[in-house]
Amino acid sequence: MNTLERLLIEGEFFSGSVVASQIGVSRAAVSKQIARLRRHGYDIESVRGKGYRLVPRFDSLLPLEVLSRLRTRTLGRNPVLLETVDSTQNYLRRLAGQGADEGTIVVALEQKSGKGRASRQWSSPPGGLWFSLLLRPSMPMHHVSLLTLLSGVAVARALMQQGVPAALKWPNDVLVRGKKVCGILLEASSDPERVEYVLVGVGINVNFSASDLPDGISENAVSTLDLLGKKLDRADLLSTILMHMEEMYEKLPSSIGRILEEWRFLSCTLGMHVTVSSYGRTIEGNALDIAQDGSLLVETGEGLERVYSGDVAIKK
Ligand code: BTN
Repeated sequence: MNTLERLLIEGEFFSGSVVASQIGVSRAAVSKQIARLRRHGYDIESVRGKGYRLVPRFDSLLPLEVLSRLRTRTLGRNPVLLETVDSTQNYLRRLAGQGADEGTIVVALEQKSGKGRASRQWSSPPGGLWFSLLLRPSMPMHHVSLLTLLSGVAVARALMQQGVPAALKWPNDVLVRGKKVCGILLEASSDPERVEYVLVGVGINVNFSASDLPDGISENAVSTLDLLGKKLDRADLLSTILMHMEEMYEKLPSSIGRILEEWRFLSCTLGMHVTVSSYGRTIEGNALDIAQDGSLLVETGEGLERVYSGDVAIKK
């Protein structure tokens, strides 16, 4: 990021001539850079005697808009915005392979082949919040599923701050009154000794109506627009999610107990009669608890079963 961009994300007025002399370019060069940013869609006010200022644009996901709202140290500090992409997960995987820093995020306005869990498709029309976050945690592979729970808690907290009564279905669906508002997909790359990186993919149905999703999906989905009757500022929502994630992530492993406690509190799975399908096998019983490693404990007719991944259906 250059000096001009740094000043813009602070949101205050700054003088074009002062910046010009600071970075050793002419005032004309500064106004050229401003013109370029305006062409990219930024609303930059210029007032005689005061200078330039970035005017926040409602619901803009442009990188400087995202950065101007961020309250994190690391997460989201390197935003990439794509108009359209196959999947932000695929795009970020390439960046991770090229050595991108922890906290890099890829946000797309729409995805053509969004990926859901278990190789399912994820419908990602314009208006949603579709992003992938790169983490490089120093933790053993068997702890990675905790990041799923952590991400679910962060999204649920952020949605609740907007007045959306979010609940968590194991392992990582965010539901409102039984309908899915957000899905989370974790993909990790590791060698036997350590986790190389984790891609946290988050898809939230925000500023479109879930009734516009394809048949077969729309029946079980809901969006914040449907729930609140108004559009949300996705950059604000993103910044709040990242803030909650960072707060828990930075304190790992000592925050594990607190994450599990909060997950239990937000859960709509625990205490319910469920069926869990995992690797072609289905079990049925009472969802008793989650264990320290994030696995689900189900009490079946044959005894206690521990499930590490799978699809849960809550029996009415
Ligand atoms: C699920 O099946 O519930 C997980 C859905 C995850 C969707 C998000 S959208 C952003 C990121 N990119 C993808 O292709 N998938 C994830």
